[in-house]
Amino acid sequence: MPLSYTAPLNGRPVTISGLGCYLPPRVVTNDELAKTLDTSDQWIRKRTGIETRRVLDPGEGSLELALRAARAALTDSGVPASEIGMVIVGSIVQDRPMPATSALVADQLGCTSAGAFDIGNACSSFLYGLLCAAGAIATGYYEHALVIGSEAASRLLDWQDRSTAILFGDGAGAAVVSAAKGRGRIIGFDMGADGSGGEFLHIPAGGTRTPASRETVAEGMHFIKMNGREVYKFATRVPAESAARLLENCGRGVDEVDLFVPHQANLRIIEATTKKLGIDPAKVFTNVQRYGNTSAASVPICLTEARDQGRLKEGDLVLMTAFGGGLSWGSCLMEWGR
Ligand code: ACO
Repeated sequence: MPLSYTAPLNGRPVTISGLGCYLPPRVVTNDELAKTLDTSDQWIRKRTGIETRRVLDPGEGSLELALRAARAALTDSGVPASEIGMVIVGSIVQDRPMPATSALVADQLGCTSAGAFDIGNACSSFLYGLLCAAGAIATGYYEHALVIGSEAASRLLDWQDRSTAILFGDGAGAAVVSAAKGRGRIIGFDMGADGSGGEFLHIPAGGTRTPASRETVAEGMHFIKMNGREVYKFATRVPAESAARLLENCGRGVDEVDLFVPHQANLRIIEATTKKLGIDPAKVFTNVQRYGNTSAASVPICLTEARDQGRLKEGDLVLMTAFGGGLSWGSCLMEWGR
């Protein structure tokens, strides 16, 4: 049985005071993938709901994606970069193994009073970052933090492997997290991990256990490997349980939720999670059709688009949930507002 920790957030109220996202302009359709892979538009749509995904330009990495999303979030919040206390960047694999992408982001944005660290929890990284930022602000440690999910997943894919190449897309989303001045507040989190499923979603080489070598590269061990069926089983059970546990622990009913923002891995997974939770499908935000699985970036991209589409109103109860490599997961409940 996977472990998890669920609790309301205590201390002074904390909220998301600004949002931004960036999607690279290059659109890759399923038909384009089917030119080099034994797959079809019909198969991909039916099994995943994905129609297109974005792929970043050569010469760019997750750093450039992160910077663009972060600039938009800072502008939206009105918080000067110099007042950010911590920069957190989450992804599957960072811009490079060292230095931390977050330190480069902090430098290039002019976050002159900020600490910085990276989170490598794949798709659940953004919610883990949100928890770290919210906890520190709630205690009064700092006023503002910048939490970014930035994913250059296209660089981690074996484009000959149809079981993974069709699923992922590039993009970044960012949130400025601040001590709340108005009605908005983060209510609580449920966070968990079950490393016994770690092998179901992994990159075998390039770390300290099996460093990169000619052999590992020749064997494609630096690419994402996935047992799709096992991840699917996990993904259709655990995030729904996590979200339900969080609602119960915070004393809120599922009918009170105004917007459900699930991690965008696969439309079938989202539909199964929605059904299990008993949430009205009209309250679920999706964009996996257009962007594929943007991993750590998926939740903040969704929040930004939901806000831009007028689907986030002051006082709305927003439920987010994500799962990913680890295996790991997280859920967050908040009342929307600055
Ligand atoms: N095109 C055509 N056929 C394919 C493709 C493809 N792209 N991929 C697999 N197939 C074939 C398989 O080989 C298999 O053929 P067989 O029956 O002859 O063996 C058949 O289709 C069915 O394969 P399944 O794996 O059973 O297909 P399924 O319906 O489970 O869908 C999928 C596969 C979409 C990968 C699904 O398992 C899934 O979504 N899993 C979860 C993946 C996920 O969410 N990963 C991200 C996690 S988040 C993170 O942290 C990164």
